[in-house]
Amino acid sequence: MSEGIIARYRPFLPVTDQTPEVTLHEGNTPLIHAPALSDQLGVELYLKVEGFNPTGSFKDRGMVMAIAKAAEEGSRAVICASTGNTSASAAAFAARMGLRCIVVVPDGHVALGKLSQAVVYGAEVLAVKGNFDQALEIVREIAREADVTLVNSVNPYRIEGQKTAAFEVCDRLGDAPDVLAIPVGNAGNISAYWKGFKEYREAGYSGKLPLMCGFEAEGAAAIVRGERVEKPETVATAIRIGNPASWETAVTAAKESGGLIGSVTDEEILNAYRALARWEGVFCEPASAASVAGVSKLRQTGEIPDHARVVCVLTGNGLKDPTTAMDAIPVKPKVLPCEKRAVLAAVEDKEEE
Ligand code: F0G
Repeated sequence: MSEGIIARYRPFLPVTDQTPEVTLHEGNTPLIHAPALSDQLGVELYLKVEGFNPTGSFKDRGMVMAIAKAAEEGSRAVICASTGNTSASAAAFAARMGLRCIVVVPDGHVALGKLSQAVVYGAEVLAVKGNFDQALEIVREIAREADVTLVNSVNPYRIEGQKTAAFEVCDRLGDAPDVLAIPVGNAGNISAYWKGFKEYREAGYSGKLPLMCGFEAEGAAAIVRGERVEKPETVATAIRIGNPASWETAVTAAKESGGLIGSVTDEEILNAYRALARWEGVFCEPASAASVAGVSKLRQTGEIPDHARVVCVLTGNGLKDPTTAMDAIPVKPKVLPCEKRAVLAAVEDKEEE
C-alpha cells in the first residue's frame, strides 16, 4: 500500500506535479472494534484511533497537505495558534520540509506531551497570556500582514487532508457507519469528515451517509449555547475553545446529515476516558473521549437506535497528556522496599481484596 494520505488518496486531493512529496506515514490508522463498550451501550461500536498518527493526533492528515502546499507555493515559514496538537504536527512537518515554524499557544493550558513535541521538532514556541481563540485572532492577522502561511484549519488544505479519515472508515467497514461521533473544538474536523463522506459517496465508494454527531465540552460549548464563550474551561484542553472558526460548516454537517452538536461535562468525558482505557485497552486523550461520552448520552435519550453501527473518532493519543492521566485515576503506583517479600505481600494483598 502506498505511504501517507497524499499518495493513497491523490485523486481526491488538490495536488499537482509541483506538490512536493512529503509524508511521515500519516493516516491508515486502525478502526478498532470495542466489544465491552458495544455490549454496555447496546450498539456496534468502533474506535477510529487517530493517536496512531506520527505525531499522535489526527492533525497530521491535514498538516501534511497544508505544509506540502505551503512549500509548493514558495512559503518559507508557517504559523498557527494551537491548543497543542496542531502545533506538534505543524512543527514535525515543517521540520521535514525545512520550513520555519512559529506556534502560538495559550500559556499554561497545553498538555505537556504536546508542548515537548513542538519544542523538540524545533518550532519557535510563543506562549501568550490568553486563550486559543485570542491566539487564533492574532495569528490570522499576522498571516495577512507578514510573509508567513497560516496552517490552522481555516487553511482549506487542512480540511482536504483531514477528510481522508472518512474515506478510511468507509474502506474498512465497506460503507459509511450509521453514526459518526466526534469531539468538536474549532470544528474543522467534523467539517472535514462530512466533506469526506459526501465525496466518497459521490464517487461510488460508499452507499450511505452517517449521522454526524459532534460533541463540545460543556464549559466551552459555544455552538450548543448559540453564542461564543468568552472564558472556555474544560479538563479537555484540546477543545478548550469558545469561538470555533468552522462553526457554520459544523452546524451544516450536523443538520444536513440529520445529526446534532451536543455537549458533555468534564465528568462524562473522564468517565469515558477511563472506560476506554480500562475496558478496551485504548488510551486516548481526554478531548477524544468526548465522542464516546456523547454516544453514551445519546443512547440514554434514545437518539441513537439499538444496534446502530457507530464510529467514535479518538482524535489524540493518551500519552499526550500524562498530567490529566495521573489526576484522573485515584490509585497511584505503590512504593515498596526493593525486596521480593514486600512485592509478594503486595501481590497477595491485592488478591485478597
Ligand atoms: N481532539 C483533539 C485531540 C484536538 O487536538 C482537537 C483540536 C480536537 C479534538 C477538535 O478538533 O478543532 O477540528 O474541532 N485541536 C486544535 C489544536 C484546536 O490546536 O491542536 P477541531
